[in-house]
Amino acid sequence: MPQVALVTGGARGIGAAIAERVVAGGGRVVVADVDEAAGLGLVERLGGGARFVRCDVTDEGQVAGALDATAALGQVDAVFANAGVVGVTGRIEETALADFRRTTDLLLTSVFLTVKHAVRVLRPQGSGAIVCTASVASLRGGLGPHVYTAAKHAVKGLVESVAVEVAPYGLRINAVAPGGTVSSLSAALMGDVDDLATPYRRLAAASSSGVPTTSDDVAEAALFLAAAPRVNGACLVVDGGDDVLAAKGRSYYG
Ligand SMILES: NC(=O)c1ccc[n+]([C@@H]2O[C@H](COP(=O)([O-])OP(=O)(O)OC[C@H]3O[C@@H](n4cnc5c(N)ncnc54)[C@H](O)[C@@H]3O)[C@@H](O)[C@H]2O)c1
Repeated sequence: MPQVALVTGGARGIGAAIAERVVAGGGRVVVADVDEAAGLGLVERLGGGARFVRCDVTDEGQVAGALDATAALGQVDAVFANAGVVGVTGRIEETALADFRRTTDLLLTSVFLTVKHAVRVLRPQGSGAIVCTASVASLRGGLGPHVYTAAKHAVKGLVESVAVEVAPYGLRINAVAPGGTVSSLSAALMGDVDDLATPYRRLAAASSSGVPTTSDDVAEAALFLAAAPRVNGACLVVDGGDDVLAAKGRSYYG
């Protein structure tokens, strides 16, 4: 378990589940998020092991500051570049350039900035792991909106490219790729950001196992990637086999 970690988008959902695990494992975590109310509420629940930093991941100065605040706690073991949104949806010919840019800023530029400043902090240490939250939409079309899919493909590409650079520094970088996951993000898509029961029920019904992927499930996989020696440049799918493997396969099995 990392003893010092940064989680962007740590106030809710998958990021909050990662932060909870770090603190439960005796570590200290910086929760970096734009949602002050949720972030401050979480760190209060987690106690002394957690600290909230207001950080918009599209702003380089704020991302650099979040990394510096984490480094002030001691040697940084793990950085989770996790913040994200669904972004613009709809038909390609109706997608405004401004919405494309805003969505790629939130989903891709944000990960570039977090990875850039994570390497700045981790490289002199000669150790540390970065885990980026990608998506099943990093691997296939048709599993998310157009711009989300494009940006998440790029996140996977960035992880693979940077993995080659940082291996000689003693660092690792990997991606965790959730399928539809019970969180505020899926709740918001279904109408009410705070109603997790609806995505739980609907994702369970859509799953071949009758069990939905939860933020806790994705957090477990992210923490595995942060800890696993020699795993570098990987993209670990967490979808119960429902999205990536079964996209077309079900027609053969009934
Ligand atoms: N929930 C899913 O179905 C699903 C599936 C695949 C991938 N993902 C990815 O998982 C990651 C986490 O999503 P989640 O499901 O936990 O969603 P969530 O909405 O529960 O949490 C996302 C967090 O990111 C924060 N955030 C949004 N914009 C930000 C910004 N500009 N700066 C800093 N923080 C910001 C939000 O305030 C929130 O706390 C995202 O990258 C998302 O794309 C989610």
